Formats: sequence, structure tokens, C-alpha cells
Amino acid sequence: MKPLTTEIPEQFKVELIEQRTYLIDGKLLTWEGETAEVYSSIHTEVDGERRPTRLGSTPSLGKEEALLAVDAAHKAYDRGQGLWPTMKVADRIKCMQTFVEKMKTKRELIVTLLMWEIGKNFPDSQKEFDRTVEYINDTIADYKDMDRDSAKFYKQDGIHAHIRRGPLGVVLCLGPYNYPLNETFCLLIPALIMGNTAVFKPAKHGVLLIAPLLEAFQESFPPGVVNVVFGRGRAIASPAMQTGKIDVLALIGHSSSANALQKLHPKQNRLRLVLGLEAKNPAIILPDADLDLAVAECIAGTLSFNGQRCTALKVIYVHENIAETFNRKYSEAVDALKFGLPWEDGVKLTPLPEPSKPAYIQGLIDDATAKGAQVLNAKGGTHFENFIWPAVLFPVTKDMLVYQEEQFGPVVPILTFKHIDEPLDDMAESNYGQQVSLFGKDVKALAPLIDTLVNLVCRVNLNSSCQRGPDVYPFTGRKDSAVGTLSVHDALRSFSIRTFVASKDNEYNNAILNELLDTKKSNFVSTDYLL
Ligand code: G3H
Repeated sequence: MKPLTTEIPEQFKVELIEQRTYLIDGKLLTWEGETAEVYSSIHTEVDGERRPTRLGSTPSLGKEEALLAVDAAHKAYDRGQGLWPTMKVADRIKCMQTFVEKMKTKRELIVTLLMWEIGKNFPDSQKEFDRTVEYINDTIADYKDMDRDSAKFYKQDGIHAHIRRGPLGVVLCLGPYNYPLNETFCLLIPALIMGNTAVFKPAKHGVLLIAPLLEAFQESFPPGVVNVVFGRGRAIASPAMQTGKIDVLALIGHSSSANALQKLHPKQNRLRLVLGLEAKNPAIILPDADLDLAVAECIAGTLSFNGQRCTALKVIYVHENIAETFNRKYSEAVDALKFGLPWEDGVKLTPLPEPSKPAYIQGLIDDATAKGAQVLNAKGGTHFENFIWPAVLFPVTKDMLVYQEEQFGPVVPILTFKHIDEPLDDMAESNYGQQVSLFGKDVKALAPLIDTLVNLVCRVNLNSSCQRGPDVYPFTGRKDSAVGTLSVHDALRSFSIRTFVASKDNEYNNAILNELLDTKKSNFVSTDYLL
């Protein structure tokens, strides 16, 4: 494998970021305590030696700051009486529009940091930024629609009702390292726009790229609405949960973290969960599948961003009659992928952001080969600095760790099946239930399969890889894969609750309602059409 060049194009050079400020109660506070070093897994040469590149540092905030952040969010929510939760929808939208305009000015820096911090290639880093901006704009548009639909009264059994959706309270927002901007904002943005206040702790990797947005948060929202704190999950999230002042845990990550945090809340029944968790999405390749199409989609599904996507295809079931051809074509396609630095043209495989990941992947390969699997592709398992070439493992059996664990990285287990019940039974027994990719053509075979698969997962991708987008479609999962639904439309509902004003239909009440509407004194009771 050729060594990675350390020549960095001018456009992609970054200056060290020694982040010292954090945002609490509308103030950018300066930290003088311990800090955490931030390294890129992209190695560069320092004093004749290749090492992970130092990118800067962030504050290692602790319990004290976590509690201050929770208090600030709690004060801004003020038990539902705060400026933000009672504000007119149109005014909250204006704040969000201000934010997104300011965010757009940071595109270049954030895209470059995505490449350095998590090794995401240039097109995907650009896409992550642009998709997030689009998500915010779509959220604003959907919220307007929701408001328009609610700008009316119902009458049932002599009772008028004016029904809207209201906020839930304080949201603790924790995002993942693989989409440190997009997935985190897919939680934070709908939470905020619905009138909640938030404590947001960026992910461990992909943390510096949040720094350029602190001022935008500060300038766009009232004090305390968004509080951004840097530090370890245990130091920040755990004490925050223990206060009992967190009303919503919004987390994209592992169910073990979600369960541990949930347990810390003194009143678990009060805690709403919005969770995107682990998955082990299978590809099922039927005997009549178009193999070239299946190979191309499985390459994208298994190995985009080195397999570090919750929606990645993490196990392939191929019918035994076509296994040999599929395995050969797929393995060749894996070895033909281009490895390099994120900004190089056409690069698909890049260094992994977690320092311990290559050793973990190697462990899965060793376990599988010790139990009878082979590495099908010539380059599989080749190491270079923090990179490991994807290994295609075959035949994989259920006693292998690579079958049992969510590998979240570049290793692909392949199993064969004779009868379709075999993958279906495995999926039914699995702890996960996010998506599946189904490759085939014969409608007689596909129809009953689809009817079963939709009850095992929440998205059946026909002849295509699994993915979250387009973001207007529902993104969720069964079993240990998710709690709640996150599309543009559904997320607004996940972060709110229906609440309404009811009044008996009589002259006395009706006069009051009319006056409320005429004087426009209430921000909630309103039939105004939001343009
Ligand atoms: O990590 C999980 C992401 O939601 C995947 O999103 O399918 O658009 O890559 P994606």
C-alpha cells in the first residue's frame, strides 16, 4: 500500500484551534482548566517521524459546568414560562433563520475540519454540511405547515378545541462521531424550534468543527436556549441526568450509553427518549438478482465512509447458487476502491478516526479466520497507520464475533443461504431492526418477503443500499435500533407534545375566545396564517 502523502493542498490546511470558550446562558465563558488534545488520524511528518496530526484542544469541562449548563437551560425554559417556549412560532423561526445564515458562512472551515477530524472524504464532508443546512430549511418549512394546520378550532360534543404542539422542556443532546454535524443537528434543530431548550455536548471526534458555531448560537438565540459544553460523556452527561432536570434524552449512539444515562434520571417516567442506536442491516441477495447492481449497491452500503454508518450494510446473505460469482465480483470491487487522504480525488477509503479501530477490526478478522472463514480479497486486512483495508470474510457463521457485533468499520461478513427462512429467522432473532436491502426481481418471491420484512425492520430498500436519506422520509428502527422517529416531519413531533385549549361552546367563553383572537394577545391561541 502506498504511504499517504503529507503534502496538503493549500485549500485544506487548517490552523490549530485551541478552543477555550464554551457557551452557557448566552455567555461565551473562558476555560482555564484541563484540556483535551485533539488529533487527526491522518498522519503527517513531524521531526522526521510520521504521527497523528495535532489539530488543537478543547476544554475538559466537568460536573460543575455541566450543572451550570443544565441550570441555564432550565432557567431559559422556566417551567414553560420562559421567553423561548412561549414565543410566537414566527419569532422562533426568525431566530433559526438567523442561525442558519450565520452557519452558512462557516462552511469551508467546517467541511475541512470534517475531513481532518473524522477522515470523511471531501464530497461526503460537503454533503454533510449542505444536507444539514437543507435539513434546517426543511424543518422551518415543515414547522410553518404544522402551524398553519393548527391555526383553527375544532368543535366536538359542544366543546371548542384549539390544538397545537408544545415543547417538552430541557433536552440533553448527544451526537455521534460519524456525522458530528448532521446527526447532532437533526436532533438539536427540531428540539429548539419546538420551544425546548438544550444542553449540547459535541461528540469526542468531530468536536472542533462545532467551535466555529458557538458565536452563531450565541447571537441567534436568547440566553440559555442553547448551551454548548465540551468534555467526556461521563463528566458531562451523567451529572446532567442525575439532576432530574433533563426532560428529553436525545442521543445518536449506542444503546449501552442510552441505557446507562436513562437509569441515572431520578424520575425515568418523566424522561422522553429520542434515540438513534446501533444496527446490523443485512443485504439479502436472491438468486435472480442483477449481480452487477447488487455488487455496486453493496459496495456503497457496506463501505461508504469505511462502513462507519449506522445504516451501513453490516452482513450480506447471498443465495448459495450465486455466491461464487457475487463473492468474486464483490471482492474485486472492494480491492479496486481508492484509498487515500480525504481530499484526494475519487478517494473512498480513508484513515479511521478512532485510534483503536484497526486493532478491533483485526480482532474480528482473526476470530473469524480461526473459526473457518477466509479473507476473500487480496488486500483485506492490510494495515497502514490508522487505516485498515476492508476484509471480505466468507463463509461466516453465527459463532463468529463479526456476525454478532455491530462492526461499524471496514470488515464485511458474507453468509450463504439455501432457503429464505434462514436470513428471515436471523433477522427475527437479531437485537436490531433498522433496515434491509433486498436484491431480486421476481415479484412472486419479493411480495411475501416484503410483507414480512416490513415487520422486522422499518425500511426495505429494494435493489439499493440502506440509507437514512432523503431526510423527509421516516428514519427509525425496531428493538435496540431506535426510539422515536426522525424525519424532518416526525422529529418536530418527537420533540413536542400535543397540548390544547378547550372551552364549552357558550356565549361567555366564545366572547373570550373572540377577544383572544382579535387582540392577538396570546402567542398560542392564534388563527393567523404564517406566511
Ligand atoms: O450513521 C447513521 C446515519 O444516519 C446514516 O445516514 O444513511 O445518510 O449515511 P446515511
